[in-house]
Amino acid sequence: MKELIKEAALILKRSRFTTAFTGAGISVESGIPSFRGSGGLWEKYDPGVLDLQHFMHDPAGSWVVIKEIFYDFFGMAKPNKAHLVLARMEKEGLLGRIVTQNIDNLHQEAGSLLLSEFHGNSKKLKCLQCHREYHPGQISLDHFPPTCVECGGILKPGFVFFGEGIPQVPLAEAYEAASISDVFLIIGTTGEVMPANQIPFMAKEYGAVIIEVNPEPSNYTDKITDIFLQGKATVVMEQLERQLFPAALDDDQDGIN
Ligand code: APR
Repeated sequence: MKELIKEAALILKRSRFTTAFTGAGISVESGIPSFRGSGGLWEKYDPGVLDLQHFMHDPAGSWVVIKEIFYDFFGMAKPNKAHLVLARMEKEGLLGRIVTQNIDNLHQEAGSLLLSEFHGNSKKLKCLQCHREYHPGQISLDHFPPTCVECGGILKPGFVFFGEGIPQVPLAEAYEAASISDVFLIIGTTGEVMPANQIPFMAKEYGAVIIEVNPEPSNYTDKITDIFLQGKATVVMEQLERQLFPAALDDDQDGIN
């Protein structure tokens, strides 16, 4: 593994434009369960609660489960080492964009700016009638469905439901990133959900080197992954950081800074 980490770090340091493509797995060590696999959210909850038709038919019923998953649970999570290393790579010019499938806001909280949220963000609520936006803290989630202060319309979480279109801006940014990246760093995703899961395949077609971080093989591993760094995101990203920024880390360790 150590050799693979060194090889990956060399490729990342030489890359003209690197994109990170992240999924639920990068937030597992922040306490947010993934969707699939043992202990995943879809073992406990019916993914149908995130189906747009279902929500429109029964917003109150959908909101009961949505609050439990995305507002009670997600609310306490903090960025972990993997999020922080990606933010540092961006700051040091080694990362041109993050395309994330996640809606937990942890990349922003880690300090990442060059970010495309393919599935939107749970930290926004939108009125279905007047399109006014709210932060969850502005709205009481004690009654369902929550309604707009202005017009009384039903509020929907600001993330993409199954059956709902991908927001145009992150979609365009993701396609552009796939076409210009010479390295694609895939972290913590099964690659099961369309159309997000096509982005790494597009990058590969455009000639990107694919580096993947996951404790388990995914839909990419045997198909397009060039370097498979098998392990948890925080462990692998910490090892990668030591290779990418050795001097700074030594100084830190000596307590100079
Ligand atoms: N570090 C890195 N990867 C991990 C870790 C970890 N500590 N723990 C689990 N994983 C990996 C799993 O092996 C799996 O490949 O994270 C992945 C999680 O897969 P999913 O739960 O399918 O999450 P994701 O691929 O992001 O799902 C895509 O599906 O339900 C929709 O909209 C939702 O954005 C989500 C989309």
